[in-house]
Amino acid sequence: MAPAHGHGALAIGSCELLLDLARSRRILFFGGKGGVGKTTVSAATALALANEDRRVLLVSTDPAHNLGHLFNREIGPRPVRLAPGLDGLELDPAATVRDHMSDVSGALHSLMPVQMHAEIDKHVALSRDAPGMQEAAILEKMAEIVEQGRKDYEHVIFDTAPSGHTARLMALPEMMTAWTEGLIQRRERADRFAEFVRGLGSDSDMAEDIVGEKNSAAEKESRIRAILNRRRLKFAHLRDALADPELTSFVIVLVAERLPVMETIELHDQLRKAGLTIDCLVVNKRLPSGTGEFLEERRAQQEIHLHTLGETLPDVSSEHLDLVAKDIAGLTALQEFSQGLQD
Ligand SMILES: Nc1ncnc2c1ncn2[C@@H]1O[C@H](COP(=O)(O)OP(=O)(O)O)[C@@H](O)[C@H]1O
Ligand SMILES: [Mg+2]
Repeated sequence: MAPAHGHGALAIGSCELLLDLARSRRILFFGGKGGVGKTTVSAATALALANEDRRVLLVSTDPAHNLGHLFNREIGPRPVRLAPGLDGLELDPAATVRDHMSDVSGALHSLMPVQMHAEIDKHVALSRDAPGMQEAAILEKMAEIVEQGRKDYEHVIFDTAPSGHTARLMALPEMMTAWTEGLIQRRERADRFAEFVRGLGSDSDMAEDIVGEKNSAAEKESRIRAILNRRRLKFAHLRDALADPELTSFVIVLVAERLPVMETIELHDQLRKAGLTIDCLVVNKRLPSGTGEFLEERRAQQEIHLHTLGETLPDVSSEHLDLVAKDIAGLTALQEFSQGLQD
């Protein structure tokens, strides 16, 4: 990009930086507006790493699921082989919420008397559509994928949903950790009450009764606490992984137009506030230079918007990828596009 960005040595169209970044991080997120090329560029990056004999998992968290479209095949919630060294999966938000809810109601059933189960099921069914439920379920799944993926793969690459959705998701580990901690503290107070009642002594019949009741209640309390604790640890691990700049980086993909540049600046700020490190901006679909007057004018327009981007985010370096003439669909086309990352 322009020398003002500190990466002036990089020729336009070269992408050493993105690939270098991808090589040096175990977890890489691609985010940005719809249609800018998140799926294409994240898949091309994953493929370039796999071509270097690294084991890579590509994960789509976008409900639009164009990973399957790109590879011309069905991709489900379990990893499937996309190319040598490259596995991929698509998180289905609806299915993720369904699994999550059945886990929750299972746990509640085991803790509550049978006559309450119908009531619990009604409550669980209602909360399926509650705000934030889908995000919480996806986040929990993401925590599992990151944990397992770090064991099974050298790189886990996330192709995320369009900007707003992803920004909310990234702020969530912090909130969920705080929320479960609050619940646990309330549980602890309840446990202390049980101890206090037990401390009343055993010579009083009344105390005996209360203790009997409280004992089984205390058992349930501690089981609830164990469940909450596991959940808290899951979210806390994810938060720690996301906030570790040596481990995780976020790449924002954009096109050189006015609104995408403004949205990139906004997304950058939201992600920073959520504790993420943004190391690279990928400016995709750049008009190739030297292609006639109209295109030169269009390219000059792009320069104006990129100037704004550079002025506002001077510390984040960027990579420019030219608009290519043919569709990028299927493994062969992706291989070719991915080759462009190494030139
Ligand atoms: N550099 C490029 N040149 C030409 N077409 C591109 C380029 N990058 C992406 N595309 C095309 O743009 C469309 C949207 O890309 P996609 O990766 O699905 O975007 P997103 O995942 O951000 O919604 C696709 O048809 C894709 O083939
Ligand atoms: Mg996509």
